[in-house]
Amino acid sequence: MDKIQTLAWRNGKLVLLDQTLLPNEICYKELSTEKEVFDAIRTMVVRGAPAIGVSAAYAMVLAAHEVDKEDFEPFIVDYEALGEHLSKSRPTAVNLNWAINRMIKCAHANKNFSVSKIREKLEQEAIAIHNEDLQINRKIGENLLSLLKRGDTVLTHCNAGALATSEYGTALSVFYLAQEKNFPLKAYANETRPRLQGARLTSFELYHAGVDVTLISDNMAAVLMSQGKVDAVIVGCDRVAANGDVANKIGTFNVSILAKHFNIPMYIATPTPTIDFDCITGESIPIEERDGEEIATINGVRIAPEGIKTYNPSFDVTPAENITAIVTEKGIAYPPFDVSLKDVFNN
Ligand code: MRU
Repeated sequence: MDKIQTLAWRNGKLVLLDQTLLPNEICYKELSTEKEVFDAIRTMVVRGAPAIGVSAAYAMVLAAHEVDKEDFEPFIVDYEALGEHLSKSRPTAVNLNWAINRMIKCAHANKNFSVSKIREKLEQEAIAIHNEDLQINRKIGENLLSLLKRGDTVLTHCNAGALATSEYGTALSVFYLAQEKNFPLKAYANETRPRLQGARLTSFELYHAGVDVTLISDNMAAVLMSQGKVDAVIVGCDRVAANGDVANKIGTFNVSILAKHFNIPMYIATPTPTIDFDCITGESIPIEERDGEEIATINGVRIAPEGIKTYNPSFDVTPAENITAIVTEKGIAYPPFDVSLKDVFNN
């Protein structure tokens, strides 16, 4: 199969693979306004913290062209308002605000240029954010691989792969790196209800890349672990608090409790832009709550009574005490994370 590209910047437009249609259809959408990118993030056409961040950066390039002002002061007022709007698309992944803020900072840093020059500088900044993401993921993969043994089997939850980033992924980068280095590794993918990112996306991308991957439903992890079939858990994350608490896809907390119970290492793969030192603990991480229809239906087919009450938090917080190590592109942080995360970040 040809390599699948998650996102691209082409002729001044953002091209996104529509992930809501995977694995059944491979269909790309071309977006040319901030509002279109907002909707794509909200509806999860693009998802995964780093891919959301890169898409947001390109949305801010589109926004700069939408603002019809040629003097800096009126330009920046409207530009920041579009950034504020975009930041409301999904609340948990800090990469969204990180990318928007970096773009706004870039506009301010170039305020002495004409607005048309500022638009060019903003495009260069978004491309830089995109390229940095590529470099970061490979380095995370190398650091993860240093923690594993040949022949290990790794359980993962949700999708922190190439589909969630520019390429390679964070948690899944280790499988691609292992392939390149002829280092045997196997994967178990939790299906990840309700949006099924494990079934629809992780098993799709690993299977097509030729990685030995087995799909399980979320309630099977304990049995697998009790049978000695899991050597490590590796997941991505949407925000790391200063104390090492980690927000990731709903169900990650459950897996971390199981891993602790069975004495299996729990590794969090994270690019440093996903660390939010302003969140002192996981309690201050905003958790997105999505439409309950995601639970009451599967692929549009109703599986629960009409009118049933639902609760659908999209993410949970894994406490630092359940985490063995937080693996970044700059190095590996071990407990106590309030000290080690800063050391790694400033590396
Ligand atoms: O709701 P999603 O699909 O955007 O959630 C994605 C995750 O939880 C990922 O694990 C996380 O964003 C890291 S992606 C490298």
